[in-house]
Amino acid sequence: MNALKIFSGNSNIPLAEKIAEYLGTRLGQSRFTRFPDSEIMVKVEEDVRGCDIFVIQSICDPVNEHLMELLIFIDCMRRASAQRITAVIPYFGYARQDRKDEGRVPITAKLVANLISTAGADRVLTIDLHAAQVQGFFDIPVDHLLAEPVISFYLKSLKLNGSLILVSPDVGNVKRAKGYAQRFNVELAIIDKRRISGTDTVMENIIGNVKDKTVLMVDDLIATAGTVCNAANLCMERGAKTIYVGATHPLLCGPAVERLTAAPIKSLIVTDTIPLSTTAKENLPNINVLTISDLLGEAIRRIHRNESVSNLFLTG
Ligand code: R5P
Repeated sequence: MNALKIFSGNSNIPLAEKIAEYLGTRLGQSRFTRFPDSEIMVKVEEDVRGCDIFVIQSICDPVNEHLMELLIFIDCMRRASAQRITAVIPYFGYARQDRKDEGRVPITAKLVANLISTAGADRVLTIDLHAAQVQGFFDIPVDHLLAEPVISFYLKSLKLNGSLILVSPDVGNVKRAKGYAQRFNVELAIIDKRRISGTDTVMENIIGNVKDKTVLMVDDLIATAGTVCNAANLCMERGAKTIYVGATHPLLCGPAVERLTAAPIKSLIVTDTIPLSTTAKENLPNINVLTISDLLGEAIRRIHRNESVSNLFLTG
C-alpha cells in the first residue's frame, strides 16, 4: 500500500491531531473556505495521488455542516487520485434514524451511508454505532470498534468498592451493557424506558436489584441526558449506593448540562469522539474524558498494513 496520509474535517481537530501523533505523522494540509452564499469549499494542499487516505470527521453538531464537509472532502480526494479513502467517523450521526418506526418517515442512517459511499469512500472506520446493524447499510467494508475496552479499563482503575451491578438504561442497549457486565463479571439490570418525546422519557421499573449496589450505567450516547438522569434517579430511589455513568459519545445537547448537574451521578465517563462544549467543561466537574485516539490510531495502522483489527476489541 502507498503512503498513509491523515486529514481532518473541522468537527474534532484535537482528536485528529492525537491520532496523527499516535501514528508518528502530522495531519495533511487542507483548507476549508466558504463561498459568499455559505457553500463549503475544500482545497487539499498537498499531493495525495496514489495515497492511502484517512479522513477523520465526526458527524456531530452542527451535524449537517460536518456531514457535508466529510462528503466534499471524500469527493475531493477521489478526484485528486487517492488510491484508497477511508472515512474515519468517530461519531456517526443520524444513526438513530435506522428504521421506520411509524408511517411516512425516512431511514436517514441508510441515506447517509449511501451518500458516503457515493462520494467515493472505499471503507469506513467508526466507533459504537447506535445500532450495530447500521454496518449493513454500507456495501463497502466497515470496521466497527467498541469503546468498551477503554471505558472499562478506566472504571477498573478506580478500584471501586462494594458490590457492583451493570445497568442498561433501556432495552435497546442491552447487548452493549452485557459486554461490560461480562468484562466486570457482574450481574446486569435493565431499565424499562419509554420515550415520550425527543427530550423526555418515562422509567418506572428496573429488572434486577440495585439496592446497596454501586451502579455502573452504560450507554452509547448522551444527548439531552434525559435517559441517564432518569435512570440514575430511579436507581437511587431503589436503594443504589453510588452511580457511575459511562457513555461513548457526549453529544450533550439541549438541557443535558443542566440535567447532569442535578443528577445523582458520582462520575460521568465519556470519550473524545465529540469535543465537549465550553458549557459542559465549565459546569460538569465530575466528567472524565477518555481519549480513543490510540484505539483509532492503531486501527488505522492495521488497516493501512492490511492487518486484522479484530483483536483491538480485546484490549483494556
Ligand atoms: C437510545 O436508544 C440511546 O441509546 C440513548 O439512550 C439515547 O439516545 C440518549 O438520549 P437522551 O440523552 O436524549 O435521553
